[in-house]
Amino acid sequence: MNTYPDIRMRRLRLTETSRKMFGAPLPGPEKFLWPVFVIEGQGREIPIASMPGQFRYSIDRLERAVEKVAAMGIGGLMIFGVIDDELKNATGSYSGDENGLVQRAVRQLRKSFPDLLIFTDVCLCGYTSHGHCAPLAADGGIMNDAALSLLADAAVSHARAGAQGVAPSAMMDGQVAAIRKALVENSFHDTLLMSYSTKFASSMYGPFRDAADSAPGCGDRKSYQLPYNDRRQALRESLQDEVEGADILMVKPALFYLDIISELRERTELPLAAYNVSGEYSMIQAAAANGWGDLRAMARESIAAINRSGADVILSYWSNQYDELFKD
Ligand code: PBG
Ligand code: ZN
Repeated sequence: MNTYPDIRMRRLRLTETSRKMFGAPLPGPEKFLWPVFVIEGQGREIPIASMPGQFRYSIDRLERAVEKVAAMGIGGLMIFGVIDDELKNATGSYSGDENGLVQRAVRQLRKSFPDLLIFTDVCLCGYTSHGHCAPLAADGGIMNDAALSLLADAAVSHARAGAQGVAPSAMMDGQVAAIRKALVENSFHDTLLMSYSTKFASSMYGPFRDAADSAPGCGDRKSYQLPYNDRRQALRESLQDEVEGADILMVKPALFYLDIISELRERTELPLAAYNVSGEYSMIQAAAANGWGDLRAMARESIAAINRSGADVILSYWSNQYDELFKD
């Protein structure tokens, strides 16, 4: 009889040892990238109120924090610059400054941590006075094509500073092709291009926008980031970035979009990253702080879900707490 009582499904999960034997392990630290926020100055380490456990660091303090993260075996970083308002303008041109904040941070970190994979976020929203990811036309419209050379300049300046990878997140059409072309023209043949290829217009970015001071001054990002109810556009965006020369694709956010991750995993042979965004992190932190759940258990379950969906790389704020949360 091919059923109960001969078949007993619970046999496979009777003990901790068997549950571990037959199930998948949590991803190791080498699969994680830690997103970090860098600011000007010295000795600064400013807690981000909406993201407990995360800080804005001046370059010297960031080095200290990264030391701990590197010692745990975390694979790399995703660097965001948080610049002073006086440096912002209509086009966000400081993003490509060879001696800009991110560029200096990368140079320093590369020197201190030659084995870490250092990625940089390539976007304009942290650099424009209006907070959009592209320059704006007189009528307030997004200037897609004008953004491309600015994004390419930023990417090349990051590569020149020593970033192993650049990660465009502006969701402008043609940005991956433009950046790849600029990298090649400048002889950065080995720079990885990780595209934020399927990036949704999500309500889960709130804490990040606080941290990075990058909320749009007016309007929203719905004309460039994806509608969350459109599965087909979500897939096309990533597949198009593969054609344009991306080395790694990404789905962002992660937890509400596991279906997209697993479907994309079937449709591409590129590595696939999942960005476990600020709102996903802070939701769990908030629940735990209220006593509505156990932090370690919730963080582990959420990371197991992202891993199970097929993501190869996880960008997550939990990275700097890897040992406490994910080590057995
Ligand atoms: C900027 C950018 C955002 C995030 C990463 N890069 C915010 C946005 O698009 O408004 C979100 C990251 C997070 O929420 O953790 N283009
Ligand atoms: Zn942006």
